[in-house]
Formats: sequence, structure tokens, C-alpha cells
Amino acid sequence: MRVLSGVQPSGQLHLGNYFGMMKPALELQAQHEAYYFIASYHALTTVRDAALLREYSQGVAMDFLACGLDPEQTVFYRQQDIPELHELAWLLSIMCPMGLLERAHSYKDKIAKGMEATHALFAYPVLMSADILSVNADLVPVGRDQKQHLEIARDLAGKFNRETETETFKLPEPIIQDAVAVVPGTDGQKMSKSYNNTIPLFGSVKKQRKAIMRIVTDSTPLEDPKDPDTCNVFALYKLLADEQEQAEMAERYRAGGMGYGDAKKALAEKVQGHFEPFREKRDFLEKHPDEVEDVLREGAKRARTAIEPVLSAARQAVGLE
Ligand code: ADP
Ligand code: TRP
Repeated sequence: MRVLSGVQPSGQLHLGNYFGMMKPALELQAQHEAYYFIASYHALTTVRDAALLREYSQGVAMDFLACGLDPEQTVFYRQQDIPELHELAWLLSIMCPMGLLERAHSYKDKIAKGMEATHALFAYPVLMSADILSVNADLVPVGRDQKQHLEIARDLAGKFNRETETETFKLPEPIIQDAVAVVPGTDGQKMSKSYNNTIPLFGSVKKQRKAIMRIVTDSTPLEDPKDPDTCNVFALYKLLADEQEQAEMAERYRAGGMGYGDAKKALAEKVQGHFEPFREKRDFLEKHPDEVEDVLREGAKRARTAIEPVLSAARQAVGLE
């Protein structure tokens, strides 16, 4: 099976990205042919600072490699190195009903938050469909917020096949981590680069700790029993602790006498412990940007080889070949 996923270089990667997408994606690379990419064209819809975009792209590449992406096994590339995606996006666009895009939650949310309603933002799901369909991906591991985009990709693939009476595209299946669903940020909303509520994967341990200490909790007094199931700290702790540790922590909440500060400290230790083994690799890559560049260039070559026959089939289907 072919697996594909992408992440936008629109900020520093955080625990939400890690548990919602990276970890499941990295687990899949062992049994499947995986294509993972840095969605730079997508990030341009929100990042308009060239230096920052470069910095974020480099950061995402290093984070993935440090967390275990194996570039021998997995094709790892930058979207901007694959110009074919735009041609494919156009071939999908010609069949894409406006209504399908007008219903997209992500577009509506961004507009509601005051972002400029640009054509690229509106057409985002079409380019995302091209990303997925370009390698005939079977499976797409993403967080829950991307579910509707996956449905759009399936709709477009189906419509293209029907209208051209071909089997050009495979219909991709999303893989959504139900247990994780939405990782809460320090303010209790979805953790997101755009909400300033993230706990970053790397960077200084001190900063990571500070972010954890900022997690919003209710005002139950220290001595009173607390409900783990409504607590943001516990929701994050659950992602990192084994079952026994979770049960013990839940018991300490319910017994009373434990302050949220202690729960936060326990969470900070878990986070540090989890990422500690990856830090060395991350530091190494930081000092060897050429190695990262080589991986991405090689990945782009391999991705273009995989995309070529699919694009050619699509061109034939519409009469361009
Ligand atoms: P952000 O919201 O921080 O900009 P992206 O939209 O770039 O994150 O998401 C990259 C991937 O990480 C997507 O598959 C997305 O579903 C997943 N993801 C992001 N935030 C979360 C979260 N809080 N919980 C679960 N998955 C998430
Ligand atoms: N839209 C995704 C996000 O914001 C990133 C993305 C772009 C993607 N193209 C993709 C994810 C293709 C999966 C497959 O997270």
C-alpha cells in the first residue's frame, strides 16, 4: 500500500502535529511505501515572509528526520520541488464544483478569523487533492481536522474517473487516530501553530517546560478531588504515559491533595523523556544542513518518478496526450 501525508511549514511543529500525524505516519513507514512531504505551497497561503518560510521548512525537515523518518525507506520531499502538482491541480480544478470548495470548513474558519479570502486559500483543497492523487496514495494519515479535505480528494478522484470514463485515480482512505483526535493546546482549544497555544517538540527544554506550566486548568483548590477527564494536563499526559501510569495519575487527581502544578511537572518529564532520544539527531542535523538538503533532493527525484505515470494518465484522460 502507498501512504502519503504532508505537513505545512507554517510554524514550529508541536505535540498536536506529532500525535495527530507524525507518529502514526512514522509507524506506517515500516510496512508501507510512504511518501511524506513538506507542504510549502500550502504554507504560502498563510506565511508571507520568505526568510520565515525557509526557516520553518528546514525545521519541519529536521523534526521529521530526528523523530525517525527513514529516508532510505520513505520518500521525503518538499512540495516546491514537484512542479507537476500544479498541472495535476489544474486538471482536477476543471472538474471541481465551486460548491464543494465553498463548503470547506477550513476555508470558512480562516475567513472567519479575518484572513484575506484569496484564490489560493479557496483552491487549497484542490492542490491537496493533487498531492494525494499524484502518487495514487491508498492511505492518508492525518488529524481529524483534515477529514473533510480527504473527502474532497475522494470526490474529485471519483468525478474525474467518471467524467473521463477512466480509472486514472485511486480513491484514498484517511487514517485518523480516534484515540488522539484533537490534541488540546495550553488554552484548551485545538493545539495549533496559529493559536499561540503549542508545546513545541524541540527547541529549549526550558521553553517547552514553560509552555507546559502555562496550560490552563480550573480553580479547584489543591486539597480537593479533581476530575482527570476534563483536565487539559491529563489529556496530554495520557498521550505519553502507559496504562498503569495513566491509572495512577487519574487516582491522584480523584484523591485530592495534588495540585495541577504537580501534574504539569509529571507531564513535563514525560514530554522530555519522550523526545530526549531524538534531540541528539536533531542537534546533529542542525549542524549538517547539507545532509538534510541531500535527503530532500533525492526524495523529490523519487517522488517525480512516481508521479510521472499518474500525470501522464490524467493528461491522456482529458486529451492532452
Ligand atoms: P496547525 O493547526 O498547527 O497549523 P497543521 O494544520 O499544519 O497544524 O497540521 C499538520 C497535521 O497535524 C495535520 O494532519 C493535522 O490534522 C495534525 N494536527 C495539527 N494539530 C493537531 C491537534 N491539535 N490534534 C491532532 N492533530 C493535529
Ligand atoms: N492540509 C494539510 C494540513 O494543513 C497539509 C497537507 C497538504 C496534506 N497536502 C496534504 C496532508 C496531503 C495530507 C495529504 O495539515
